[in-house]
Amino acid sequence: MSTATWPSPALPDLRDTPPLRWGIAGAGAIAHDWVRALHAHTSQRVHAVAARDSARAAAFAGAHGIPRSYGSYAALADDAAVDIVYVATTTEHHLGTALQLIAAGKHVLVEKPLGCTAAEARQIAAAARQSGVYARENIWTLDLPHTRVIERVIGDGAIGEVQVVEADFSVAFDPIESARVFAPSIGAGALLDVGIYPLSFAQRLVGPPLETRTVGALTDQGVDRRAVVVSRHADDALSISTTALDIDRPNLATIVGSRGRIDVRTDFYCPASFDLVADGRTRTWHPDPAIAGRDGLCHTAVAAAADIHAGRTAEIALTASIGVLETIDEARRQLQVTAVL
Ligand SMILES: NC(=O)c1ccc[n+]([C@@H]2O[C@H](COP(=O)([O-])OP(=O)(O)OC[C@H]3O[C@@H](n4cnc5c(N)ncnc54)[C@H](OP(=O)(O)O)[C@@H]3O)[C@@H](O)[C@H]2O)c1
Repeated sequence: MSTATWPSPALPDLRDTPPLRWGIAGAGAIAHDWVRALHAHTSQRVHAVAARDSARAAAFAGAHGIPRSYGSYAALADDAAVDIVYVATTTEHHLGTALQLIAAGKHVLVEKPLGCTAAEARQIAAAARQSGVYARENIWTLDLPHTRVIERVIGDGAIGEVQVVEADFSVAFDPIESARVFAPSIGAGALLDVGIYPLSFAQRLVGPPLETRTVGALTDQGVDRRAVVVSRHADDALSISTTALDIDRPNLATIVGSRGRIDVRTDFYCPASFDLVADGRTRTWHPDPAIAGRDGLCHTAVAAAADIHAGRTAEIALTASIGVLETIDEARRQLQVTAVL
């Protein structure tokens, strides 16, 4: 395989995918980055934003050129012009917000994690199925071009059978600015906030785990602050997913196969380059430099829009999201995280 013959990421076109009219529930930090990415790189348009406070919603709408704003999520749910809502509330409110919107017949793109537990994620999936609407988790790493190209390179046999996937997402969060991550509540902790990325990446490449062992450390308030989750998958492939709330690490990923290796050279969870090391050579794939960092959030929104236009359900993606939350439930149980015991 030469650099000229890299497989395409096979993602829907960012500009050609017809626009849906989006709503946003929760005018917080990630919602700002998300709408900026959406409007900068795609034809999708945000029609309305809702916050619990109408002035806050109006300020957000003004900052992003959004025509309508509401002071409650219920008012957004009642807006017949909205096709799909991006749920950007804090994690413990994903379930309630998503169910409210699904009941109003809206498709939903829910920030990661889909729920605080696998049981919550199953509730969202069941409600979507029952209402005949689309639901997807915004685990955007899985829809980034480098991830899709890596999947296809592996599928083409370039590194042989996958033996080990190792990935890390560890950040030293500011305990004041990022209080929600440390709060002793059900939606907090390293595993749900950032550990979900290496776990989702590994499970996309080697499937669900057959067994899992977790070691780590808790905060004084019983929240998981460090964890290493080691799993065995089909064909004895192993995955090692590392996460922390209080250590900055390079957040790389490596996939070792029976006859080669892929090294993701920069933060693997956002648009990244990777090296393919096989057949005595190293070849490097690079992403489009115009879509860097959190601008990569736009791909999952467009993937959702393309699915909805094509009449596809998100059943496979939701099953994977629920599976990763089952692993997190088990890892939290093994660590004795008090918020979920
Ligand atoms: N994909 C990514 O890269 C990424 C990055 C960061 C975070 N996230 C995820 O996005 C979600 C939001 O994170 P964030 O950093 O944006 O959080 P944030 O700014 O602290 O809060 C987001 C919004 O949650 C809403 N909310 C609703 N009920 C609430 C309550 N009772 N208490 C507090 N907030 C409430 C607030 O909406 P109102 O505006 O209505 O008040 C707030 O604006 C989390 O689930 C997180 O895991 C994803």
